[in-house]
Amino acid sequence: MKKRFPLSKVYSLLEPGPLLLLTTAHRNASDVMPMTWYSLLAFEPPQVACVVSAGNHSQALLRASKACVLNIPTVELAKQVVGCGNCSGAEVDKFAKFALSCSAAEQVAAPLLDDCFASLECRVVDTGLRRYEQFVLEVVAAWVDPKVKDPRTLHHRGYGKFMVAGESIKLRSRMR
Ligand SMILES: Cc1cc2nc3c(=O)[nH]c(=O)nc-3n(C[C@H](O)[C@H](O)[C@H](O)COP(=O)(O)O)c2cc1C
Repeated sequence: MKKRFPLSKVYSLLEPGPLLLLTTAHRNASDVMPMTWYSLLAFEPPQVACVVSAGNHSQALLRASKACVLNIPTVELAKQVVGCGNCSGAEVDKFAKFALSCSAAEQVAAPLLDDCFASLECRVVDTGLRRYEQFVLEVVAAWVDPKVKDPRTLHHRGYGKFMVAGESIKLRSRMR
């Protein structure tokens, strides 16, 4: 069960660049796709720039709804993640195909993925970088499972190779 997470700490979830599962919904359609091309833009409210290609069904839903959820999976979901990247929501119901259970978000139509340890509800705040298929998202609500201490997130290293995180080291006393 996830609990509300402070927006001021959202950056700490994204700083290491974990692979995300982007969920979108508009009218009767919903979709989910893996996404790794994104970058933090601001601490609070947290803003993220991301690439969602025009060839992806998710882009149409993102444009239409102007909202989405960034879900952060761990290694246990690796096979479903890759499966979601191999097909399109235009042709298949990925939630059913990969048995992804969902909960309603608080502020957006896109669903929260229950098996992801964190889910960030976002609104699209800028589409000005259309040339680059980039969208600027603002996180409006964040949910994290407090029981997950060192999440074993996936970090794509290209060509289907993933690095798995999970160990934390503390260097606070050395930092300015
Ligand atoms: C590891 C991984 C990372 C990906 N990152 C992105 C990304 O950042 N942006 C993007 O547009 N597509 C990305 N993709 C491709 C989409 O996930 C893929 O095209 C997906 O099938 C689109 O589904 P849709 O048509 O249902 O939206 C990635 C795929 C994988 C496997």
